[in-house]
Amino acid sequence: MIGTNLISICSMKPSPRMLISCKNSSSFLARCHPTTPRAMSNNLSSTNNIRMLGFARIMNGNHRAFRLPSSRYFSHLTSRPQTFRSPAATRINGDVTTATVNELGLKPRKSSANDKKNLEIEKVYIKTDNGIDEKQLVVEKSADKESELEAGGEEDNPRSENKVSEGVAAPIINNNGEEETDVEREAWKLLQEALVTYCDTPVGTVAANDSSEESLNYDQVFIRDFIPSALAFLLKGENEIVKNFLLHTLQLQSWEKTVDCYSPGQGLMPASFKVKTMQVDEEKVEEVLDPDFGESAIGRVAPVDSGLWWIILLRAYGKLTGDYSLQERVDVQTGLEMILNLCLTDGFDMFPSLLVTDGSCMIDRRMGIHGHPLEIQALFYSALRSAREMVKVDDGSKNLVREINNRLSALSFHIREYYWLDMKKMNEIYRYKTEEYSLDATNKFNIYPEQIPLWLMDWVPQEGGYLIGNLQPAHMDFRFFMLGNLWSIVSSLGTPKQNKSILNLIEAKWDDLVGHMPLKICYPALESEEWRIITGSDPKNTPWSYHNGGSWPTLLWQFTLACIKMGRTELAEDAVALAEKRLPVDSWPEYYDTRTGKFIGKQARLYQTWTLAGFLASKMFLKNPETAAMLCWEEDLEILETCACALSKSGRAKCSRDAAKSQILV
Ligand code: GLC
Repeated sequence: MIGTNLISICSMKPSPRMLISCKNSSSFLARCHPTTPRAMSNNLSSTNNIRMLGFARIMNGNHRAFRLPSSRYFSHLTSRPQTFRSPAATRINGDVTTATVNELGLKPRKSSANDKKNLEIEKVYIKTDNGIDEKQLVVEKSADKESELEAGGEEDNPRSENKVSEGVAAPIINNNGEEETDVEREAWKLLQEALVTYCDTPVGTVAANDSSEESLNYDQVFIRDFIPSALAFLLKGENEIVKNFLLHTLQLQSWEKTVDCYSPGQGLMPASFKVKTMQVDEEKVEEVLDPDFGESAIGRVAPVDSGLWWIILLRAYGKLTGDYSLQERVDVQTGLEMILNLCLTDGFDMFPSLLVTDGSCMIDRRMGIHGHPLEIQALFYSALRSAREMVKVDDGSKNLVREINNRLSALSFHIREYYWLDMKKMNEIYRYKTEEYSLDATNKFNIYPEQIPLWLMDWVPQEGGYLIGNLQPAHMDFRFFMLGNLWSIVSSLGTPKQNKSILNLIEAKWDDLVGHMPLKICYPALESEEWRIITGSDPKNTPWSYHNGGSWPTLLWQFTLACIKMGRTELAEDAVALAEKRLPVDSWPEYYDTRTGKFIGKQARLYQTWTLAGFLASKMFLKNPETAAMLCWEEDLEILETCACALSKSGRAKCSRDAAKSQILV
């Protein structure tokens, strides 16, 4: 298959497309990034660390290991002194170091009526073969539990039925002296089994290890799927695999990519890659990395989120290991700039948000998320904030730095102002006048109030709100998309008040958004005519299944980050407890179906890696909340100060900066 692919592509393009083999990887790097002047002047010739002299950053002080956030965001953490061991601490000088942090500690969990319930504890049998790592877990489902899952309609109340923090066997101490439940141990074992090696080094994890289904591309390493695996590894101090992943995907970025005689933009990161073996000659077989930039993907969707995740992971690597030399490398800096240039290129766009085609992110099928979907905007914002901490400031990059700052400022204003929805805003929309032609129109996007869907009127609670899914001329997508909202909290794309309101809404709408399994990818599902028109009658995305209102346990880690940041740890604990009870029994599915996430998804893969890695990362964040804090961003007044527009000078219209600044005081 691969050979055919190669030949057909080569025949269309004069320059040969080569697969990266372990042998030629350094020479490949030497020919990387041909059009980037800074790369040329640096004349890369190896993958060795190249230290930059006079390295300055846009933001000062963001790169210190142990530098913990002092923001009011974390003031909810108690002042009880606590000793913790961070992965960064473990790494420095190879010694185990401990740090005392006064402002950290967990908010005590709120007790609720459900906590007092006498919940069934599953029987867990552990068979030991060769010591602790070889333990196998067999979970026996009780008859009561089976019937509980099978019986009951959609109308039952999962929040009260399924709060099951006590439903998991008591933890035991692992080799590192940390508490670990049997479920966690099983997940670690499965994560190890998902490892993909390239020339004998681990470089990623497969999407799923489900031998019962045709693998399609689930045997590949997906960039977005690897993020929770990477975090779990980093939090455990296993850093090499993440470094390998970052460097190998960097090489793939410069791939010569072709979709039917057209080459997508330079800097694009693949959606996934696979390690393949190639017959070099009669005797020799070589391993090669074969990326997919969407040219093989179902629907030929563009992996816009891959580069954004790569940048976010690069920052996380530095934060959690304390090793900033990776992001300082010239090849890494060049790759970073290439992604940024691709995202920041001017087009016909009128908005600061990124314009993308349908299915360009986690939802990689047609689901009506073309245009300016929230998920992409939240990841874009996070990637820009990450880049702002990592881009080396010099003469060659100063324009890029300016662009990053301007874009951050404009994007944050745009999303906070136009994507926000609560009761007050809904009432404004309800009374909108339309067809306003002027610079200071109230209804700037000409939204017809009739667009407000009936379900929405009663759904939004008084104390909550959320960022809508998409905004286009005369179109607001009122669906609630989980990843975009969670990531807006984590990155402070939303104002502090908005972020708080989003979690309030999730809590108030727990049955809809968590139900039997955290968390809904989007709410509500598209049904009937809407499903037919918007998904194109997609049989995989039927109402309340898969991307169309299915429940995805992988979203747990992002929820946990958001909850810890906002001082709502108890919400994450409840969600993790739900997942811990069901995931091992159900063989770690990719997603769940039905309105409340009651059934394993119709076509869900089992042993889905980001399900189990997301669970592990969540558990680790809850055990060491300071690590979660390292990955979040605080409100940054500098972003609100920056003003790219010249409006105030021209006197033509009022600059929006004042409005942006005033918002955070609310
Ligand atoms: C599905 C998901 C996508 C994921 C891939 C591999 O296509 O929609 O987000 O990356 O599976 O798990």
